[in-house]
Amino acid sequence: MRIINVVGARPNFMKIAPIMAAYREHPSVEPLLVHTGQHYDEKMSDLFFRQLGIPEPDINLEIGSGSHAVQTARIMTSFEQVVIEHKPDVVLVVGDVNSTIACGLVAVKLGVKLVHVEAGLRSGDRDMPEEINRLLTDTISDFLFVTEKSGSENLLAEGVDESKIFFVGNVMIDTLLRNKAKSDESTILDELGLTGDYAALTLHRPSNVDDPVVLGRLLDALEVIQNDMPIIFPIHPRTRKNLEASVLGKRVEEMTNLRLLDPIGYLDFLRLMSSARLVLTDSGGIQEETTILKVPCITLRENTERPITCEVGSNTIVGTDVEKILAAYRKTMSGGDSESRIPELWDGNAAKRIAEVLVDKV
Ligand code: UD1
Repeated sequence: MRIINVVGARPNFMKIAPIMAAYREHPSVEPLLVHTGQHYDEKMSDLFFRQLGIPEPDINLEIGSGSHAVQTARIMTSFEQVVIEHKPDVVLVVGDVNSTIACGLVAVKLGVKLVHVEAGLRSGDRDMPEEINRLLTDTISDFLFVTEKSGSENLLAEGVDESKIFFVGNVMIDTLLRNKAKSDESTILDELGLTGDYAALTLHRPSNVDDPVVLGRLLDALEVIQNDMPIIFPIHPRTRKNLEASVLGKRVEEMTNLRLLDPIGYLDFLRLMSSARLVLTDSGGIQEETTILKVPCITLRENTERPITCEVGSNTIVGTDVEKILAAYRKTMSGGDSESRIPELWDGNAAKRIAEVLVDKV
């Protein structure tokens, strides 16, 4: 069985790593790895391949950045040639980035079976590009691998046939559990001189960082928090560009305890999250990782597609209102959260289950 596996952007890399490893147990599987090149910087891409032991991509489409239409169209045009040449039995896509839907669409139009890993997640917010990518990819997929029960419920409610849905757990957590001990050896905390409490911050959602009014509100809240403890902020290229292009960049420079870093590698970030007093983020995956690490997470969005992290974990959805962010912050600091639990099947074996289903059913 020839499987083309697709990655494109940073959050895809930790999802594909355990899947590529799981195929090794199945000699009948011939995996090919295609990198679309949606993310291309050393620190957004190559570093992750090295740290996570992902094989070199067999093919790199080198698409790079562009508007949504340009990026998606370029990926489709190039990926179509790859599918025609290599004639896979299956194309496997992960997550919700533009590379996911672009390659998924190419596969089904060429009559190739499509597998979606991390299917069924819904924020209910169609202004998010990722929500559109998720909805469209799921509707054309033949195998839908789900990370949490809400995923199966959403798919059934949308009319997806039950026989296509497989609740297997979370491949991102496979990667976390596999790399936790290694990340404990990271020296990032010493390098940053962190001894006491600190917060870790990530921000990259267009709705937060492309609108200076929203970004300004977030900075108002961060200004208060950084008076109490350092905030470590590995900054996404999109966010850095936007800050530098506006007066907000100057404001950030003046906040001496808000410490901007270039994007950091997986192991360093895992170490940074693990020891943080709290994490502030608008990422999807980080809500899941902090759940396993049992670190309080304040999510700077109005919604989440990962509700299990709020139900069993220490994730709080607060949006971008300054008072709400600070109220959640104060509650966290007063230790008001109850002990979180581990979601069902987030046990490090999701990729193994995926490979077994594919070998058995394709
Ligand atoms: C993409 C995904 C988002 C994911 C995020 C993780 C979509 C629609 N969005 O958003 O779901 O959470 O990746 O990072 O697919 N850039 C660089 N170097 C890089 C990559 C990007 O400088 O290696 C800059 C470019 O200026 C680019 C901008 O970042 O224009 C945005 O990149 P893009 O891939 O369009 O979207 P992300 O914001 O990264």
